[in-house]
Amino acid sequence: MILKGKKGIITGALDDQSIAWKVAERAVAEGAQIVLTNAPVAMRMGVINQLAEKCNAPVIPADATSLEDLENLVRQSMDHFGGQVDFVLHSIGMSVNVRKNKAYTDLNYEWMQKTFDVSAISFHKMLQTLWKLDGMREWGSVVGLSYIAAQRVFPDYSEMAESKALLESFARSFGYHYGTAKNVRVNTVSQSPTMTTAGQGVKGFHEFFNYADKMSPLGNATAEACADYCVMLFSDYTRYITMQNLYHDGGFSTMGMNPAVIGL
Ligand SMILES: NC(=O)c1ccc[n+]([C@@H]2O[C@H](COP(=O)([O-])OP(=O)(O)OC[C@H]3O[C@@H](n4cnc5c(N)ncnc54)[C@H](O)[C@@H]3O)[C@@H](O)[C@H]2O)c1
Repeated sequence: MILKGKKGIITGALDDQSIAWKVAERAVAEGAQIVLTNAPVAMRMGVINQLAEKCNAPVIPADATSLEDLENLVRQSMDHFGGQVDFVLHSIGMSVNVRKNKAYTDLNYEWMQKTFDVSAISFHKMLQTLWKLDGMREWGSVVGLSYIAAQRVFPDYSEMAESKALLESFARSFGYHYGTAKNVRVNTVSQSPTMTTAGQGVKGFHEFFNYADKMSPLGNATAEACADYCVMLFSDYTRYITMQNLYHDGGFSTMGMNPAVIGL
């Protein structure tokens, strides 16, 4: 029960494959009370109410690109909890150019801006909204989910690579301000390829998933394992970890070559 008595907001649970879905289940199993949120359009398609029932959590719709929605989310969450929030999971990503199959050398810049807004700027917007409404409790923890394409080239990941680079940078910069002001930590977790709706939207995902699985000495980290890691980062056991991009990838990020990949 490492989250006993803690209260948190969890974004991005679309279906039971979503990383956020597993984090929600795990956080509640560890004693947390949570609020769930997703974009109104995703909630119509998804099955978030099943999760809400299981976790005894209200669902507050919010488009993470809308400051008005985010303000409403933070206010309503604080009303629900009767006070500030201890942890927040940002588990939001979407690329318009990837969805529309645009080549990296022929990107549509309006779509790119939408991609950055949804996948990265929403992280800053969420942090800034929490900051202005004084929504985070001292020693609270905010986690965003990232991917190693922020550091290395994975051609089919396209503009999501830059989205993740921006996301990780926001975690560092806001981590400074929130750490100094309120001892709140801000980190990103760089997760293995995971079979989810967003993951499988990337071209050649299945082949790549298998490649990463072979390359990583421990194999790909699952969504359930990612949930364990996030819960640890929300807990009091990690109070001095902040402004970090933390690889949760079975060792992939440190590998150069693995004989298993080339059949030696
Ligand atoms: N699946 C992977 O291989 C993988 C690997 C590393 C990191 N990640 C990251 O993990 C996070 C969660 O993705 P997932 O793999 O669980 O997939 P997912 O499709 O289950 O989750 C993505 C979520 O983003 C939400 N979303 C999209 N636009 C939104 C908006 N405007 N406002 C609010 N929510 C919005 C979707 O509704 C969905 O719930 C993303 O940041 C993703 O980039 C995924």
